Amino acid sequence: MRPIAVTDLSIGYGDRVIADGINFVLEKNDLAILIGPNGGGKTTLVKTILGIIPPLSGTVEVLGCTVKHVCPHRKRIGYVPQMGRVPEHFPATLLDVVLSGLFPYKERFDRIGKEEKELAMRALEEVGLVDKKDEPFGNLSGGQQKRGLVARALMGHPDALIFDEPTSGVDIAAASDFRKKIIELHNKEEIPILLVTHDINPYIDHLTKIIVIGRGRFRVGKLDILRDIDFLREIYGESIKVIEVEGKFYLLSGDFHNV
Ligand SMILES: Nc1ncnc2c1ncn2[C@@H]1O[C@H](COP(=O)(O)OP(=O)(O)OP(=O)(O)O)[C@@H](O)[C@H]1O
Ligand SMILES: [Mg+2]
Repeated sequence: MRPIAVTDLSIGYGDRVIADGINFVLEKNDLAILIGPNGGGKTTLVKTILGIIPPLSGTVEVLGCTVKHVCPHRKRIGYVPQMGRVPEHFPATLLDVVLSGLFPYKERFDRIGKEEKELAMRALEEVGLVDKKDEPFGNLSGGQQKRGLVARALMGHPDALIFDEPTSGVDIAAASDFRKKIIELHNKEEIPILLVTHDINPYIDHLTKIIVIGRGRFRVGKLDILRDIDFLREIYGESIKVIEVEGKFYLLSGDFHNV
């Protein structure tokens, strides 16, 4: 069974098509990096895979279940959304939020026991936030909240992981720890990982797929995509340049942003 299979998918909102003709499969050992310009449709694609927004047409299968609005298998995907800050009065502590990562695996009235708390503490340790466990989640900084959500996603051994810009707003040390963690998970666990990021180079020796979406275009490949300047210009605009140095790729625009 393929963990995630997307067939002839068209994504968008109401009458507005963001991209169509989307076809790809994520196998158990895939580390796929999803890139594209701002507003290109990365988050829309992720939300469609998760069943948060419906496809305009086509199908998404998660663990053999066709995602309609409610697909039970969707819960088996650990997901970190690209989000702003959670409101200050959000009524839960960081530990509560991390523990809620176990809810998909439990019956409604199951108690949270010592074992679950230990799991949560281990997840918090991994993201360096043990000392914040009792803080109200809404009082944490944006970067800390994001790290908390990464800990939540890793709880309870998900069957797939989808992270939408998990290191944006996260400081360089924590971002570097996160990247190591992703590569470690990819090497150790037999689950597909889909990562939306503008930061390809840290993953370049490990990624199995590059997925690009933008300006209504879609393509799946590997490093061949980064070497196809005509395609990248269609996606990012005419001013894009790519420099390949020692196996790393630097995508530069007029304002010299890395991608
Ligand atoms: N709820 C919505 N209703 C209507 N249009 C939306 C909605 N959310 C996003 N869009 C539009 O869909 C397009 C794709 O947005 P999306 O958030 O998927 O881009 P993205 O590639 O994730 O961008 P970024 O790099 O900024 O995160 C944008 O033009 C955006 O304005
Ligand atoms: Mg986005």
